[in-house]
Amino acid sequence: MEFQWYPGHMSKAMRTMKEDIKLIDVIIELVDARVPLSSKNPDIDTLANSKSRVILLNKVDLADPAVTKLWREYYEERGFYVSEVNAKTGQGVKNIQNIINEACKEKLERNKKRGILNRPLRAMTVGIPNVGKSTFINSLSGKAATKTGNKPGVTKGKQWIRLNKNIELMDTPGVLWPKFEDQQIGMNLSFIGSIKDELVNIYELTVNLCDYLRENYKDLLIEKYGYEESMDSYALIEKFAENRKFLLPGGVLDVDKAAAALLDDFRKGRIGKISLEKPCSE
Ligand code: G4P
Repeated sequence: MEFQWYPGHMSKAMRTMKEDIKLIDVIIELVDARVPLSSKNPDIDTLANSKSRVILLNKVDLADPAVTKLWREYYEERGFYVSEVNAKTGQGVKNIQNIINEACKEKLERNKKRGILNRPLRAMTVGIPNVGKSTFINSLSGKAATKTGNKPGVTKGKQWIRLNKNIELMDTPGVLWPKFEDQQIGMNLSFIGSIKDELVNIYELTVNLCDYLRENYKDLLIEKYGYEESMDSYALIEKFAENRKFLLPGGVLDVDKAAAALLDDFRKGRIGKISLEKPCSE
């Protein structure tokens, strides 16, 4: 399967990101807990330079908890402050303010020594499309937050949400570009819907997903779809079409419709809690 990328978008996005990052103290980077490496854009590490870094493993409700634990350790070992979040329900979101304070403690101490006591920390969320940035900002800001207008020294048009007296959050997230030097990353990003479905062949994509699931989450397939070990991925999709009575005129199985529905089951967590990559598989 071929994935393509258009570098034109990238340079503009990169320039905007560079400007925004100048305004902030801490970068809150969202990744999808099912693919915490593939959904992380490595360019942000260069752009972030000396900023404090928080990684949120979002959509933790959809990922395999044992694997998520490994990823938390992986990123903590690399100097990130890490939290597991379900932005949709708000699970883990409240704790973010403590994590921001923790990640910025050196900056807070420096400010204190210089007699700067009431300058709030500024945070921005970043992430590739579909990782849950907007959902997270809504969940974090809630009703209590107040929007603050433009201020001297702040780029015109930037709005800040005051979370408490110490922390302000940029109200629009930084959209990072998906980056994939290898096809496996492109595939992982397509599985989670961060690359538009129109750019990929859904049937082929679902065959690849089924290959992975047969290898790693066989029991879930048996339980949910009546999968049998003698089946290959094509047969599994056919069985799924039969079960759901997805038929074309003339009684032929509609395997394209079945593939799209199976992929949707995965994306919505209906097959079970599934992680698509592990730290040691790098
Ligand atoms: P973005 O700004 O990064 O592009 O992502 P956005 O917040 O729009 O979220 C993308 C999709 O992911 C949304 O689903 C959203 O509800 C879902 N989502 C965000 N965080 C979580 C999470 O922690 N767990 C789960 N399970 N889903 C999450 P959607 O299909 O676009 O909308 P809807 O089905 O929620 O209506």
